[in-house]
Amino acid sequence: MCGIVAYVGDRTAFPILIKGLQRLEYRGYDSAGIALHNGTSHVYKCKGKVKDLENLVKDKDISGTVGMGHTRWATHGEPSDRNAHPHQSMKGKFSVVHNGIIENYTHLKKELSNRGYSFESDTDTEVLANLIENIYLEQNISAELAVRLALSRVVGAYGLVIYCEDEPGQLIAARKGSPLVIGVGNQEYFLASDATPIIEYTDQVMYLNDEEVAIITREKLELKSLSNDNLTPDVKKITLSIDHIDKNGYEHFMLKEIHEQPATITDTFRGRVAMDGSKIFLGGVLDVMPKLINAKRIIIVACGTSWHAGLVGEYLFEKYARIPVEVEYGSEFRYRHPIIFEDDLVIAISQSGETADTLAAIRKVKEAGATVLGICNVAGSTISRETDAGVYTHAGIEIGVASTKAFTSQITVLLMMAMLLGSKRKTLPQAEYSTLIHELISVPEKIEEILKEEEKIKKIASVYKDVSNALYMGRGLLYPVALEGALKLKEISYIHAEGYPAAEMKHGPIALIDENMPVFALAANDTSYEKMISNIQEVKARKGKVVAIVTRGDKSIRKMADHVIEIPECHEAVSPLLAVIPLQILSYHIAVMRGCNVDQPRNLAKSVTVE
Ligand code: M6R
Repeated sequence: MCGIVAYVGDRTAFPILIKGLQRLEYRGYDSAGIALHNGTSHVYKCKGKVKDLENLVKDKDISGTVGMGHTRWATHGEPSDRNAHPHQSMKGKFSVVHNGIIENYTHLKKELSNRGYSFESDTDTEVLANLIENIYLEQNISAELAVRLALSRVVGAYGLVIYCEDEPGQLIAARKGSPLVIGVGNQEYFLASDATPIIEYTDQVMYLNDEEVAIITREKLELKSLSNDNLTPDVKKITLSIDHIDKNGYEHFMLKEIHEQPATITDTFRGRVAMDGSKIFLGGVLDVMPKLINAKRIIIVACGTSWHAGLVGEYLFEKYARIPVEVEYGSEFRYRHPIIFEDDLVIAISQSGETADTLAAIRKVKEAGATVLGICNVAGSTISRETDAGVYTHAGIEIGVASTKAFTSQITVLLMMAMLLGSKRKTLPQAEYSTLIHELISVPEKIEEILKEEEKIKKIASVYKDVSNALYMGRGLLYPVALEGALKLKEISYIHAEGYPAAEMKHGPIALIDENMPVFALAANDTSYEKMISNIQEVKARKGKVVAIVTRGDKSIRKMADHVIEIPECHEAVSPLLAVIPLQILSYHIAVMRGCNVDQPRNLAKSVTVE
């Protein structure tokens, strides 16, 4: 939810922190701040973006080889200078940056107020800084012990970096629920919420686990559990490269990521499907294959776009593997009293692998003894580590807050899984299995063809850029795509948009149709084609505007619709992968034409690590 970066070593910390914050800005961007320590501590912070922070520090003392930075997505307290991190404790002993939520902060705040503490911000983080300081001063103990004692009183989630004035040259990091990666250099350490601020300095990283505390100086990294057991750091090499986090000449990350999809889908299936169509191999689920094959039910848990991918998965698993599927929002599932059986197969889908609600749902499922698979994009993420097995999507880092390439890669994994299970369970005949594999292999080339239509799609975007509302409708496998199209439009252009199963229109939403209402109709799938024609006619009869996504060469819908966007002919099973592309492009251009910040839409953050 927020981005943390920190450094200890011989270099000047400031440029490392600023560059790191720019990379992490996708995680939150309503205020930013840094603390630099060079004998004395300097804290600079302000409402706004990292560039506002850079303006603020012009002419200021930015020396120091130890420091921490933060970019915020507000939870407690509005975006403002005083609520920006780092927060300092009242007596100035501690500086803290925090990602997460301290749930019992009201209680702790009251207790500290009774002990004479006052607060400058509305944040839970300042409460924690004061709690650590209070324990440290009252008990006259080391900073590390004070941190551990304070954290044992905290209910909630945190990724934290803490600095104590009395122990210069040292940073303390702790994690519960919110990610922290430590980059290990030569007599220097880098800390961050993800590896992007680290990779140009070192490829050696370790992921902090829940309830672990790292005590770091330029000379050494000491790892402990919250209860003071010594632990051995598990340092690994990461493969992420600097090219992955550049815009490569595109105006926005979102546009770059839309255009990357032929390559990212290929990366998702490469080495997993035999190019002759004979088989699929998913190494990540090999160990649990008997459980998968014998699963009585699949429960998919996810949020947002990943939940839409899960809905596509539902159609695919039921059709090809003949296993009943339920698709659940992580946030609802975790607080219901769901009935989970040991022979259930639970699939958690998450681009970031850090989404708090999805993670909590997984933990609930694991308590019940069911097998959990992860479909994650970020290697080493919490969900990928807490699941029994899983398949990485390999879409590469997704920086645009609006998910695009992660969605198509998730569907690619789900399709491969459904086909593999169908083949093993003998519910998918070999000939059809082989046809589907070939269809999947042909998808990247077909997406290239759609991307060539961008100028045409942009013209259509210019017609609808000023609307206030939009509806999306589809059937079968294209119904989740309608939901995803609506989400893409609303989250980056702030146009109110809703997706519906096309047949549901007549049960209410059709009342909204008039000459000002555009309806994006997904009419490219063969089994429901005739029915979609009827639904389009119903919209036209009420003077709605129709933009239809159709299969190339379609004549019937062209006669009715105001605009058509063609996609290449394809098997229905892969149609979501193609049909979503024009909707992503449309949303992108509409948002750009409306002057919106496409990569960092208002009120959002890329990774939702709070519930
Ligand atoms: O990282 P996750 O896939 O778990 O994230 C889930 C949602 O927060 C995410 O898909 C969100 O809906 C995107 N902004 C959609 O574009």
